[in-house]
Amino acid sequence: SDIEKGTYPHFMLKEIDEQPFVIRNIITKYKDDNESIKLDENIRQAMAEADRIYIIAAGTSYHAGLVGKEFIEKISGIPTETHIASEFLYNMPLLSKKPLFIFISQSGETADSRGVLVNVKKLGLPSLTITNVPGSTLSRESDFTLHTFAGPEIAVASTKAYTAQMAVLAILAVDSAIARGVKMDFDPLQELAIVANAMDIFTNQKDTLEQIARDYLSLSRNCFFIGRSMDFHVCMEGSLKLKEISYIQAEGFAGGELKHGTIALIEEGTPVIGLATQENVHLNIRGNMKEVVARGANPCMISMEGFAEEDDKIVMPKVHKYLTPLVSVIPLQLIAYYAALHRGCDVDKPRNLAKSVTVE
Ligand code: G6P
Repeated sequence: SDIEKGTYPHFMLKEIDEQPFVIRNIITKYKDDNESIKLDENIRQAMAEADRIYIIAAGTSYHAGLVGKEFIEKISGIPTETHIASEFLYNMPLLSKKPLFIFISQSGETADSRGVLVNVKKLGLPSLTITNVPGSTLSRESDFTLHTFAGPEIAVASTKAYTAQMAVLAILAVDSAIARGVKMDFDPLQELAIVANAMDIFTNQKDTLEQIARDYLSLSRNCFFIGRSMDFHVCMEGSLKLKEISYIQAEGFAGGELKHGTIALIEEGTPVIGLATQENVHLNIRGNMKEVVARGANPCMISMEGFAEEDDKIVMPKVHKYLTPLVSVIPLQLIAYYAALHRGCDVDKPRNLAKSVTVE
């Protein structure tokens, strides 16, 4: 059945490997007979009417929401804010006149997000849930649902649900751009097919990533991930993956913020993983990497074809600039997986964590 490990030692590894398939599945599900985007007319209309989008989520889904904000603002031109559900619940910001709420949740059961939805409904405001479980509470209680079609995710550390959420958000952003009459030269269905092929390359490079985990993380107590713009969001997810399952203290932060504090933590041998997949800021992040190297850091740069440099440890194939997070996260997932494995941690069931947190 769907929820057996088969030949895999862990669900997490299986779910990482499934990502190219999941993306191809999403393309099929969201494509109509004319190769255009197929999406519920009511959702299209809700997006067209909104003057501002509020994305609400927790954990990894929150990190997908940060990328979703970039998609919706840059592609559809709708101002968008992404909020941590448990914060929004007790500290709601001022709302616009015609808000639309988007809940992102793998399980559709997270209590923090459900709490926000209850309040949103009391205010009579519209809501859309992007979830992997269409019959879930968030899905049933919100006005609209978009399915991420990732298949059951068993490992506590979320992998394929995250990339699926971002794929659906990209499709939604383009669909609403078209509905709002924005001229569009970005075809998410075509570009996601390129992403799926790029993902395949990484899932076939496990030896390299296992070696990186060995070289950088077998003795370290901590690890830093630095990036800018889209890459920054992926750094937060990469650091969450690593801390969740390997218990190595990890932090993802914006390259430019280094000098404002975090650089004090860099010592001889501190691993720093840099992401440089965004052409407009890759030189800045390379500059930030030099600053940490000068203080003894052990650098691991992940870049993209087109502006790679000689010492980069990993060069990912070129994908559309909006969709780099779907690919650059794969090496980070695999590095976290192998770091946890080498440390003898329980990869699929990390201590103190639950797959779905249904209490506040
Ligand atoms: C738990 C899980 C995380 C997940 C978060 C949000 O903390 O351990 O992996 O990202 O809940 O879950 P959701 O189902 O709402 O996406």
